[in-house]
Amino acid sequence: MPQRLALILLLLATPLQAADQRIAVQLPAAVAEQLRANMRDHLATLDKLLGQLAAGQLQAAGQMAEERLGLSAMQHHHADHIAPYLPEPMRLIGSRMHEAASHFGRIAVEGDRDRALTALREITATCTACHNRYQLR
Ligand code: HEC
Repeated sequence: MPQRLALILLLLATPLQAADQRIAVQLPAAVAEQLRANMRDHLATLDKLLGQLAAGQLQAAGQMAEERLGLSAMQHHHADHIAPYLPEPMRLIGSRMHEAASHFGRIAVEGDRDRALTALREITATCTACHNRYQLR
């Protein structure tokens, strides 16, 4: 069906076009390396959180989110070394991510998985918002 194919192609092309318009941020090599390492840890954390939610381990998920992604994680991730190099709006998205993770942590330990999932999505929305807008040069 050509029409359906055209629609699929359009849907596939849309995110790529958006990606081309990302703002390129220039960081000293060591800072960029630290940022990328943090990012890989963020993804690993999300992966673990989903596993814990699936297994009904909400307490553990709440604690890990706070320690590895929440406001408590900022020092561990050397956020104070990276933040000064970032454009202000990008830095704000980063702060929102840490806040969303701490919020998720508080919700998760209350033990309601549906509410925890809603709060988890608030974290991933910040990942997506930043990735859609910024790239490293
Ligand atoms: C404040 C902005 C920002 C936020 C928030 C953010 N990222 Fe990133 N992330 C970046 C940038 C910039 C890059 C580098 C993109 C590029 O290659 O130019 C990146 C790269 C990555 C990478 C690739 C790392 C590598 O080794 O190349 C992963 C994985 C990643 N992010 C995961 C996440 C996850 C998961 C979240 C949310 C929990 C997240 N990021 C939140 C800005 C952000």
